[in-house]
Amino acid sequence: MQRTSDAPAHLTGALRIMLSAVAACASGIGRAIAADAPVDAIPTMFEPVSTPAESIRSLSFLVMGISGGIFVVVTAVLFYCVWRFRARPGDDREPPQVYGSNQIEWSWTIVPILIVLVLFLATARTINELQASEVPPEALRVTIVGHQWWWEIRYPDLGVVTANELHLPASRPGERRPTYLHLESADVIHSFWIPQLSGKTDVVPNRRNLMWVEPHTTGTFLGQCAEYCGTQHAKMLLRAIVHEPGEFDAWIAAQKQPAAVVDAVADGRAIFQSTACINCHTVEGTNANGRFGPDLTHLMSRTTIGSGAASNTPENLRAWIASPDHFKPGALMPAMQLADNDLDKLTAWLLTLQ
Ligand code: CUA
Repeated sequence: MQRTSDAPAHLTGALRIMLSAVAACASGIGRAIAADAPVDAIPTMFEPVSTPAESIRSLSFLVMGISGGIFVVVTAVLFYCVWRFRARPGDDREPPQVYGSNQIEWSWTIVPILIVLVLFLATARTINELQASEVPPEALRVTIVGHQWWWEIRYPDLGVVTANELHLPASRPGERRPTYLHLESADVIHSFWIPQLSGKTDVVPNRRNLMWVEPHTTGTFLGQCAEYCGTQHAKMLLRAIVHEPGEFDAWIAAQKQPAAVVDAVADGRAIFQSTACINCHTVEGTNANGRFGPDLTHLMSRTTIGSGAASNTPENLRAWIASPDHFKPGALMPAMQLADNDLDKLTAWLLTLQ
């Protein structure tokens, strides 16, 4: 008796937890978009713009179609039986009992085996297609290093280093430009996921995972670290910016330039070079060559700071240096404790790093 009266309470409790989890996810994505520069699509695996993501969507439709069909058939039979064989007033006979029907046992063994076999073969074929076994020589190679809580992005063949915003060329018919991503971690396990480009791949310390993407549509697509990796896991956002091939080459050429030198902000540069900033950050052309934090050589070419925690505006940048914790509690960058005047000069210099 106790159990039956508790059941609805358990159910509503579980439902409430599920609903709040869904709401938290939705508001997290909403916040990510609101805080930042425009993106071309809400992250979803159902609107793929890249080859692996398209295959994953087709497979998911097949799996959902088969499971949906099973759900409909089982539910229909269940409701039919509940209605057709319900207890009727005045009829308290026990229903006929069936023992050891070979027909029934064979059918409910073989049918599920066939269904699982179809799902297994379809999945294995897709995995085989998408597995990045070797890198074609013409492919663009990018090394992605997951950090608590940001993404280091290196183009080793091109000598370009950036952070949190992955620039890629689009493939065009007759001119394929696939990108192969080498995924590494500097600390704990992360997971690299840009739903419109591909599935997620774990980023594991002391291991190098390989994945590839081949986008066909230009635009900005949001991604997210998909493995809990510490307090700021939710603010470990990513964006992929897919360019026309010519535009991409121009972006690379600009990124290969050393940091701009502007005499008017020489004071800010001197402050940067004389503080602990240089232990964690790199700016090409200065004495700063740290790799613990993002490379700042072309900081102002990025639309966000703090791995998507805030838009990259002068006010946010200044507030970030004064107190990263304000945007991202637990961020590993310390507050720099600079006088207001020095903070202004430092920010003014950073703003020239186009
Ligand atoms: Cu990195 Cu979650």
